[in-house]
Amino acid sequence: MNKIEKYKTLFEQIKALVADEDDLIANMANAAAMLHHEFGFWWTGFYRVDQTSGLLVLGPFQGPVACCRIGFGKGVCGTAWERKATVVVPDVHKFPGHIACSSASNSEIVVPVFRGETVIAVLDIDSTAFGTFDATDREWLERIVAVL
Ligand code: SME
Repeated sequence: MNKIEKYKTLFEQIKALVADEDDLIANMANAAAMLHHEFGFWWTGFYRVDQTSGLLVLGPFQGPVACCRIGFGKGVCGTAWERKATVVVPDVHKFPGHIACSSASNSEIVVPVFRGETVIAVLDIDSTAFGTFDATDREWLERIVAVL
């Protein structure tokens, strides 16, 4: 299967899974697991906007231990939150302010999760290869987070 076929299949599977469950954290956990294992990414997970601290806080993920809290506008995750837009980073070492949770990560994509106009979380995916993510990943990951 090529990348688009994999995303199409995953999208249908995730849509079916979330149709039977209305708990956001459970749905995030399964979506992270499915994406991670289908594509073999280095790290796949969510950071949720914590209203109390005003920071992103680590949510369901697959992969190595990660930093727990990220500020608005900080790192790739905080930048996607601030911009309310997906951020694709072909080489994390060239992204000013990149937060290196793992030295093995070389490229990254962060996709905001919206409730209405508000960003409530971000989906963060890291790859050990450079330039892993492109417009196809952006399009399908945005579709996937929209159904959560
Ligand atoms: N690299 C991210 C931090 C989170 S870890 O990659 C899991 C960032 O710059 O926001």
